[in-house]
Amino acid sequence: MTLFRAALLNPVDVQSWQFLDDAGLLVLDGVVRAVGRFDDVVKNYPWEPVKLDGVILPGFADVHIHWVQHAVRGRYAQDLLPWLAAHIWPEEARYADSLLAEQRAAEFFADCLAAGTVMGMSYSSPHPTAARIAHAARRGDWVTGNVVMTANAPADLVAASVKPPADLASLSEALGRTHYAITPRFALNCPADDLAALGAFARHQGLAVQTHLAESIAEVREVARLFPQALDYTDVYDEAGLLGPRTVLGHCLHLSAREWRCLKARGCWIAHCPSSNEALDSGRFDLDSARRYQVPFALASDVGAGPSHSMLHVMQRFRRQHQAAEVRVDPEEALFRATLAGARAMGRGAVAGSLDPGRRADFVLMPRGARAQSPQAWFEDLLEGSPDELEQRPLGTWIAGHQVSTGSGRIPLEPTLPC
Ligand code: GUN
Ligand code: ZN
Repeated sequence: MTLFRAALLNPVDVQSWQFLDDAGLLVLDGVVRAVGRFDDVVKNYPWEPVKLDGVILPGFADVHIHWVQHAVRGRYAQDLLPWLAAHIWPEEARYADSLLAEQRAAEFFADCLAAGTVMGMSYSSPHPTAARIAHAARRGDWVTGNVVMTANAPADLVAASVKPPADLASLSEALGRTHYAITPRFALNCPADDLAALGAFARHQGLAVQTHLAESIAEVREVARLFPQALDYTDVYDEAGLLGPRTVLGHCLHLSAREWRCLKARGCWIAHCPSSNEALDSGRFDLDSARRYQVPFALASDVGAGPSHSMLHVMQRFRRQHQAAEVRVDPEEALFRATLAGARAMGRGAVAGSLDPGRRADFVLMPRGARAQSPQAWFEDLLEGSPDELEQRPLGTWIAGHQVSTGSGRIPLEPTLPC
């Protein structure tokens, strides 16, 4: 049992959060037992507190990140499709090498923890071994999938890819149903039969599904050419049975009203990747439509198209991009989309994403700053800075009440943590 004492900011919903200037956070067996004003909590639990100098926030969730692109983030071409061919596919081919994959996985998870990301959904390369390596090396609560790409890609990646439905069972068993996602890379890499086999397997096993949808105009046009019988891009996945409440769709920039309605009807989640959309000049997410059609979404970095794995950076781009188009985004919404919404998208809404009793005590400590400010002004200031500065902002990260990273270095994660 540990009683933490610090300032605390806790998301409630899109419009509101709870800020406590002097909070008590009581953790038992890795789970939050009580949270509130320190004086109130200590009355019921008279323990010597661990004082932390800063503001506690829930750890961040990144619901769309390519861990195998971490080493090549920030390299750009004119558009998504040439960028994939020039920079991404040659890099992912290197993950056939298990030693390289092991080293890179360790770096990736350490970097995520240092930046305050404690959970997420990651895309691996097509190689099943690389997905197993990421699963074994994970630090925090991650769902991972090997991208399936059986067409229109370099021969070595197609050869390495799982051919659905063969091999899916052994992988989902190895990673476990709560940590494995069926991951068709996108419609351009999977003929209709393969998409349907993936959809059937995901439904049968109750697995999460993740893929990309309508990220660039050229991609949408190519999908229309390859799937002439489909109503639109969303219909390609819908016909394959890939759309449901456990589906998280990256980007969703170029959708018709019919497609928005379909996503709503199926209960899908969107991974909104503002920094990636900006970097590849893919387009702007239609926040008005997401709100109007009430399609739920959470934020994501989409590294390596996104230049940084820092969710502080993603929140910054989220606010600035939409505000530049005169769509207001409150700081409360930014925090919610990077924490509790992400946990919900991952199916973890009851056990993670905020620091309320019954949830995992995963949190990050942020510098308080010298000036006396409102929580809104403090949070807005926190989101200022370059990607590098924002990656280094957390003073420490805790998973299940154990410190796993400090501002200046890493602390090995105990193997018994309940993630
Ligand atoms: N669409 C298909 N593959 C990818 C990828 O690796 N990154 C992004 N941003 N979009 C994709
Ligand atoms: Zn992506």
